[in-house]
Amino acid sequence: MADHGQFYITTPIYYVNARPHIGHIYTTTICDMVARYHRLKGDDVFFLTGTDEHGKKVADAAREQEVSPQAFADNISGEFQAAFDRLGLTNDDFIRTTQPRHEQKVQHYVRQLIDKGDVELGEYEGWYDPGQEEYVTETNAREQNYKSAVSGRLLERVKETNYFFRLSKYQDQLLRHIEAHPQFIQPQARRNEVVTRIKQGLHDVAISRTTEPWGVPMPDAQEHSIYVWIDALFNYRSAIDTDQRLGYWPAQIHMIGKEILWFHAVIWPAMHMALGWPLPGQIYAHSFWISEGQKMSKTLGNFIDLGKLDEYISEFSLDSLRYYLVTQGPMGASDADFSHQKYVDVYNADLANTVGNSFSRIANMTKRYFDGKLPPKPTGQFPVKIPELVNNYVVDFDALRLEGAISRGLGLVRNIDNYIEQRQPFKLAKDMDSNRAAVEEVLYNCAEAMRIASILLWPIMPQKMEQLHQRLGCDHYAAALADHGRGDLEAWTRWGQLETGTSIQQGDALFPRHQPT
Ligand code: MSP
Repeated sequence: MADHGQFYITTPIYYVNARPHIGHIYTTTICDMVARYHRLKGDDVFFLTGTDEHGKKVADAAREQEVSPQAFADNISGEFQAAFDRLGLTNDDFIRTTQPRHEQKVQHYVRQLIDKGDVELGEYEGWYDPGQEEYVTETNAREQNYKSAVSGRLLERVKETNYFFRLSKYQDQLLRHIEAHPQFIQPQARRNEVVTRIKQGLHDVAISRTTEPWGVPMPDAQEHSIYVWIDALFNYRSAIDTDQRLGYWPAQIHMIGKEILWFHAVIWPAMHMALGWPLPGQIYAHSFWISEGQKMSKTLGNFIDLGKLDEYISEFSLDSLRYYLVTQGPMGASDADFSHQKYVDVYNADLANTVGNSFSRIANMTKRYFDGKLPPKPTGQFPVKIPELVNNYVVDFDALRLEGAISRGLGLVRNIDNYIEQRQPFKLAKDMDSNRAAVEEVLYNCAEAMRIASILLWPIMPQKMEQLHQRLGCDHYAAALADHGRGDLEAWTRWGQLETGTSIQQGDALFPRHQPT
């Protein structure tokens, strides 16, 4: 089933002018799930995240606090790293654009672009959105009333001599690639937007600035610094541009939010073309979280920062937060609402009443009828075709239909519940002398189906599923998967691996039911 290939996935690198919040945690968590899934399948994974530390907005934020931009960046980048560690996110590296390993490579790539004749000096006069660090066309500026489409702040009029990347040269090649590879930009709605815009014509882009010294200097032209977006995009390459890592290139998935699609779906691939690099497999642009029905804002008091997420973690567990983010989040083309009530409902329905409750029924009955020891393997079958289910899970996960993949795992748990309802082991057990074999069959099958469900759900809820493995007497999975290790999804999900006589540990409720306060 599996080809054990190399798999490279990235998040955007986050600006250090803001502290980590739900948006950053969301994208990184989704990538963590995909990375874990690939490791579970046996792939050799490289998962990259990091911080974007140059440019005007970081320099301005540092000035406001009267610290050097580097000290400012060190501090916030440290916060991101600490948060990601604490949240159990398994990135294989954390790149910072102020690291020499990155700066040197960026200069090297830009020099190659100059040598190839794809970067040249020119004049730029027009609009700039300093909050987004983005040049804005005359038409867009007019449509937006000369204000930022994102922050609403006034655009700046700038007149500069810049180095330009000849993006226009790649218009046809890009369109052809997008048309020949329907998965290249996803979801579909985003792909259509990009195609429409490319067809309106591509302009060359300024890739240096003389007005912002906080950046990587242009090779041989120190008065220019490389435009922060060009500097930032190159992180995906610089982090793995070493002899040991280059085999991961190009990325299979660049996961991003929809507001930075243009840079990733147009400028970045054109830069690959200019540099003769193979193109990435997919740019996936998810949508945005809003909060309690409104755009998140500090003044409205609905801003979901790390502190707020910590409250959910301590009340409901880290894995429940992961589950909520992925099943209710904005992976598709529309925004998603973070709502406390919905969180409680989803938690109780899917985690407490389904996963947690199903396991505790199995453990209870094993204890009551078989002294806590797993009965012998039966000949009677469990009514679900597991290889087909696992195959569907793989197909969904590979297509980044995470919700679909999860519903395979959760669906299996629901199948266990239905099976218990149908076979009624508690009734059968009233006459153990005549029904012993039937009760044994039902319980073994339930525990074994639970084992398989817990493997499928591991990329989503690793801590809880590892507890479940332990309670089912199979902690070797956790040992194999620890420290970014690899699993064997195909072998591990073959039916009939729980050993007769294994003691099933009841333990505390995995997901205690949340009582409304
Ligand atoms: N530094 C650039 C990216 C450079 S990548 C070469 C940047 N940084 S950012 O700090 O603003 O992070 C933007 C990313 O954070 C989004 O693309 C998205 O992944 C995530 N999110 C920020 N707010 C978000 C929501 N409200 N909802 C979901 N994710 C969003 O842009």
